[in-house]
Amino acid sequence: MLEIMKIGVVTVSDRASRGEYEDLGGPAIQEYLREVIDSPFEIEQRIISDDQTIIESTLIELCDVQHCSLVVTTGGTGPAKRDVTPEATEAISHKLMPGFGELMRQVSLEKVPTAILSRQTAGIRNQSLIVNLPGKPKAIAECLDGVFAAIPYCIDLLEGPFMVTNETRFVAFRPKSK
Ligand code: MTE
Repeated sequence: MLEIMKIGVVTVSDRASRGEYEDLGGPAIQEYLREVIDSPFEIEQRIISDDQTIIESTLIELCDVQHCSLVVTTGGTGPAKRDVTPEATEAISHKLMPGFGELMRQVSLEKVPTAILSRQTAGIRNQSLIVNLPGKPKAIAECLDGVFAAIPYCIDLLEGPFMVTNETRFVAFRPKSK
């Protein structure tokens, strides 16, 4: 029996957190995960404001208390004053994983010229991989399609549960020897 993986899904949006705006990003991430992951997982969902202290404490809780192997955020990656998700991610990460942001911007640029406005990044805190996505719901699949094949092996290296992907969508790349 495969161990149940926990995955955090965090919508960072002042308006969604106040209920002024329907959260479309969080459900889009959940739908994507259900489509690509075949092994058992549970979602911890949060909707929070663009407040660096709140983002940091939410990420810490999902990593250290909930033990999520993967935490995916949406929103707050742009240049506007209230966009601070990358800063919060970097502040609480023990290791930065800049390749995720570089690749997601590269694949996004094929879809939209404003892709370079996202400062999205990724990091490791303890045994959790945190990945930032832009706030636009359509950006979720556009970005995750670019990096998802590397996520199961990253979680292996963090000694997390084994993730099985739906091979019609992704063949997880796991090098045979380190
Ligand atoms: N990336 C993809 N794949 N698709 C998009 O539509 N939107 C861009 C960019 N990255 C976009 C994208 C835009 S318009 C902005 S302003 C930045 O992400 C930051 O978005 P955020 O502040 O909502 O995180």
